[in-house]
Amino acid sequence: MRTDYHCHVLPGIDDGAKNVEMSLEMLEMLHNQGVERVAATPHFYAHREKSVARFLEKRQKAYEQLLSCKLPVSELLPGAEVAVEHGLSELEGIEQLALKGTNLILLELPYTAYADWMQEEIYNISCEYHLIPVIAHVHRYIEYYSKSEIEKILGMDAVFQINNEAFRSFRERRFVKSVIKRGLPFVFGSDSHNLSARKPDFDILLKKIGAEKAAASDNILDKYKKE
Ligand SMILES: [Fe+2]
Repeated sequence: MRTDYHCHVLPGIDDGAKNVEMSLEMLEMLHNQGVERVAATPHFYAHREKSVARFLEKRQKAYEQLLSCKLPVSELLPGAEVAVEHGLSELEGIEQLALKGTNLILLELPYTAYADWMQEEIYNISCEYHLIPVIAHVHRYIEYYSKSEIEKILGMDAVFQINNEAFRSFRERRFVKSVIKRGLPFVFGSDSHNLSARKPDFDILLKKIGAEKAAASDNILDKYKKE
């Protein structure tokens, strides 16, 4: 099933969809682009949230607002885009931010100079809770990290998430193609936030990438489903 692994579609919880109407229009657009399974991944910043439990309450409210409507896609799975911060791995309940029903957790790295603690936090989360880190829009960090630091990230036991928009930039496209060519596990996402500047864009992806690679991305979720 065509899957969007990264989408800010839940209403009123972050800088994504403003209300239920916008959420439904985003899902409709994804459906028209062939997407039937959507990971709803609102931002989670540990330093801003009171607790994981409080965040999950807010997320559940937003999710239920959508579930009370007829959804244009077959599956909407609650998750989060978790910003990697100092001490994240020790935060109570962090494992509950994994994508519902899977062992996948979407993690966003800081847009600052690379430091080894980032990788340590990710490693601790994955070991402690048997989760597979999914590194959000991995191509974005080539702006901030050196080649050898990027290699450290690509050396992690992780899945690498690619935003469809990467195919619009020569530099990012070249990097993404090298990740795919090396046989590293990858998944695609729209990282869509709205219906304008950051709208669902699976149409671009399907033009730029063959059906086989799109299917490889779709299959990752099934591979990491919790038994
Ligand atoms: Fe995002």
